[in-house]
Amino acid sequence: MPPLLRNRLAKRVLSPALTMIERRIEQHVKRATQTLQTDLDALHRKVAALQTPQYGLSLLVDGTGRGTHRMPTASQIDTLVHQIQNVADGTEHARRSVTVAYRTVVALESLGVGRLAGSTSNVCGKLATVPLLSPPNGNVLEIGTLYGMFAAGLLRMLHRSGTEPHLTIVDPLAGAQLQPGTVTQHVDPTGTPVREDVVRANLALGGVGSVVEARIQQGFSGDPEVRATVADREYGVIVVDGDHSMDGVRADLEWVEQIVAPGGIVVIDDYGDKAWPGVQDALDKHLANGTSRLSLLGRVSTSAYLRAG
Ligand SMILES: C[S@@+](CC[C@H](N)C(=O)[O-])C[C@H]1O[C@@H](n2cnc3c(N)ncnc32)[C@H](O)[C@@H]1O
Repeated sequence: MPPLLRNRLAKRVLSPALTMIERRIEQHVKRATQTLQTDLDALHRKVAALQTPQYGLSLLVDGTGRGTHRMPTASQIDTLVHQIQNVADGTEHARRSVTVAYRTVVALESLGVGRLAGSTSNVCGKLATVPLLSPPNGNVLEIGTLYGMFAAGLLRMLHRSGTEPHLTIVDPLAGAQLQPGTVTQHVDPTGTPVREDVVRANLALGGVGSVVEARIQQGFSGDPEVRATVADREYGVIVVDGDHSMDGVRADLEWVEQIVAPGGIVVIDDYGDKAWPGVQDALDKHLANGTSRLSLLGRVSTSAYLRAG
């Protein structure tokens, strides 16, 4: 304390002035606190107003009921665009195709029955890349369809690019997803059964049945009867996404060699996905023997793209 304020007389003389200064300070602090509180309340209201529509929008694309969210980051989309350009000869339409693919994914899962399988990058990559590779005809074969929603989306994407598609699906449609070698059967996050009526509902949603034809061959891709029925045409696009074991993928690849059209596109789903090591093993071994009609164009997300000679 300064010596002057330790002096009793000085204290008494100065006391009213000190009290007045203290009151002034208190008033200032009070006013400043009130202003701060008002600003803070206004800020809270603004944040709440911003959060309300964001929350509603996030419900459209979060992971509830499908196991994975549909909220790609800008850098994930940039990576996809880059990868697609590498596989599809530097195409200038990669970003447009990815954007349209993403809208298709959100729309299908919003209204469809079940879900699309796989990460947003992988699903959008497949939907965006296949049309950009200009398949030689519109015959599409999907081995392993689950809910048929990817097939519906792929047909839409091919149609948009000018290809009139004809779809064939092979899947046991056994009530639940079958994966040989997988010990536990996981309950699907959608709670939807894997059945033909479900697949038909999703194909109808994608316009299949009105202008575009589809046939569903229930059974396993290794079944000789299934193969005989499905081998009635050459396919411009084949998506291999059924049995993910190494033996299963190798068997599918050997069959695919026989039914793919010259110049046809083959997509090997889950290539490089650590959850399914058999897929990459199978394709690498298949290509290593040097006698394949298929040559590897490259990889987009966790799918490999090949063209038949
Ligand atoms: C990963 S899911 C397919 C996902 C779907 N392609 C998509 O993108 O949404 C694999 C499907 O293949 C089926 N499947 C398993 N083994 C098969 C086989 N040998 N032939 C055909 N489908 C098979 C499973 O029951 C399941 O419905």
